[in-house]
Amino acid sequence: MTQEPENRIAALIAELHDHAHRYYVLNQPSISDAQYDALFRELEELERTHPNLVRGDSPTQRVGAAVRAGFETRKHREPMLSLNNAMDEHELTEFYQQVEKLAAMQGAPIEFCVEHKFDGVACSLTYEREVLAQALTRGDGENGEVITDNVRTINSVPLRLRGENVPDLVEVRGEVLFLRSAFDALNAERIATGDDPFVNPRNAASGSLRQLDSHETAGRPLSFFAYSLLGVSSTSHFESLKTLANFGFLISPIAKVVSGLEEMRRTYQHGIETRHALAYDIDGLVFKLNDVALQGKLGYRQRSPRWAIAAKFPPEEAFTTLRGITIQTGRTGALTPVAELDPVAVGGVMVSRATLHNEEMIRRKDIRIGDRVVVRRQGDVIPAVAAVVVSARNGTERAWSFPTACPVCGAAITRSEDDAVQRCDNRECGAKRIGRILHYAARSAADIEGLGEKSVETLLKHNLITDLPSIYEIDHEALSKLPSWGELSAKKLLAAIEKSKHIPLHRFIFALGIRHVGERNAEVLAREFKTLEAFLAARSFESINDIGPETAASIIEFLNDSAEQRMLARLAALGVAPQPYEALSLGDTFAGKTVVLTGTLSTMSRPDAEAKIKALGGKTSGSVSKKTSLIVAGAEAGSKLDKARELGITVLSESEFLEMLQ
Ligand code: IVH
Repeated sequence: MTQEPENRIAALIAELHDHAHRYYVLNQPSISDAQYDALFRELEELERTHPNLVRGDSPTQRVGAAVRAGFETRKHREPMLSLNNAMDEHELTEFYQQVEKLAAMQGAPIEFCVEHKFDGVACSLTYEREVLAQALTRGDGENGEVITDNVRTINSVPLRLRGENVPDLVEVRGEVLFLRSAFDALNAERIATGDDPFVNPRNAASGSLRQLDSHETAGRPLSFFAYSLLGVSSTSHFESLKTLANFGFLISPIAKVVSGLEEMRRTYQHGIETRHALAYDIDGLVFKLNDVALQGKLGYRQRSPRWAIAAKFPPEEAFTTLRGITIQTGRTGALTPVAELDPVAVGGVMVSRATLHNEEMIRRKDIRIGDRVVVRRQGDVIPAVAAVVVSARNGTERAWSFPTACPVCGAAITRSEDDAVQRCDNRECGAKRIGRILHYAARSAADIEGLGEKSVETLLKHNLITDLPSIYEIDHEALSKLPSWGELSAKKLLAAIEKSKHIPLHRFIFALGIRHVGERNAEVLAREFKTLEAFLAARSFESINDIGPETAASIIEFLNDSAEQRMLARLAALGVAPQPYEALSLGDTFAGKTVVLTGTLSTMSRPDAEAKIKALGGKTSGSVSKKTSLIVAGAEAGSKLDKARELGITVLSESEFLEMLQ
């Protein structure tokens, strides 16, 4: 089929946009990457031979423009305002009551639209005749920096708006985010290349957007979530979010209308509990009066609307002073420098120790004893020193250097070339033995309640245990006679130890403490081999999806190690027999149900969601039919959702699905 180049270019652009939208927003690609590349190359070739036909909305223009010096600034069409904060539930209640008064709606439940408060970089996008024409940072609220070329590289920013009857001028405001999963990898790379690591994903997003060379930005995993729409009128905020989704934007996956103070408060608490399951950082929830006419009635203060509030979560970063650095020896012999801090509250918990990761990190961040530092703690993740406040130095701070011998057993420290970590290679190192037992007994492993750091030290000291298998040989009488150990706590501990003999296989594999085998890999291995015997007999792992060569090598080393083999034989002789994988069931929430997933889930990957449904007794399917029992609709769910509605099938939002999983 031959076409005029102009028409062919138009057709290719439309088709590529459609595929990109399916791929990045709907998570439902309909062609292979290779087919996409072929179309893309055809377009590139046509544009190369007809440079006058290169269009601003062409996907080839995402790739990046040439380096420019600095950024031009431009005035916002309307100032970018900020939000008033509520720091806790009490202040949120005050906000609600104030809206009740101003709207003269005492007693009647008031409707708010809730969204995530994205912790990224605010950005305003202007679309002229459907095409992205300009992107500005928030700047000072009045004027922003022009970052159009960089924003074009973000795959979830539509270069052309989808849908019909799009007004000629549309402005979309939202937040650019750096995905958490990619954050650690970016920092590791920066450290390796001699660049300073970013303190948090927000700074990474900001740094990535401010690259003068947009090829650089193009390599960064940025996402854009839209939260307000100017130039298209709607009667409710929720409706304008739906319009944004129809235009092709990602919106907050939890967006919904809540009614009344009670539901508002519940939503806020639920937000705090679930924030860490998200793929990106949020620092709270935003509640916006849903009724646009009422918004108009309430109006604005100097810089913020009276009809909206940012309900903030407890902060995850705090400042404190670094008093010293100690070394912790882990179960694998890895030596981790630990910051001893003046105690400080972070994320609602007092923190006095934080990891400094490794020597390289300390050197890179130039961390000195006596420094004022930023401590960051995310959910259950170990608190870490994220940055130094260099401007707070007074000259008394002291540099620190890594010891040359293991502080526990005195053996020389080794450091392999490919490994940024120093380690103690002494098999008999006492710290390793303790670390190994503690890892085995941890909640996500063998879950032996009562076998914490203190009791392991006591048991070792009194020779009641000597190594890992020996915990299954503890003598009841000797245990109950230990100082500060009563009959009851002895009984409880032994019962917990007995119970741990039959934990599910994936937890047992994790409990073994094989290098590079975390909870996720342990689950993969259990699913693959089903029984402990099959796993122990295996020597080939590279063909298993998700198991990389380094992990495979480490598993083989473990399985071939004669000391480990003796240990496993002793465990078996003592009656340790993990449950085979098939026997696993987390409950029957989805028993007999066929579930279809559609759209983008923000809190978990598709395979994880499917695995959870299966573990809870359900089946998953890729297409909607009369046999479908439930459909889970993530952000920007498309035709499957329409079909499910037609057939009258129950539709769950992502948050309802998460509730069922709990
Ligand atoms: S609405 C007039 N919605 O929070 C309403 N802002 O202090 C203005 N932000 O810099 C903003 N998530 O970038 C809105 N769902 C959300 C948001 C959000 C994050 C940021 C925004 C602004 C700051 C407001």
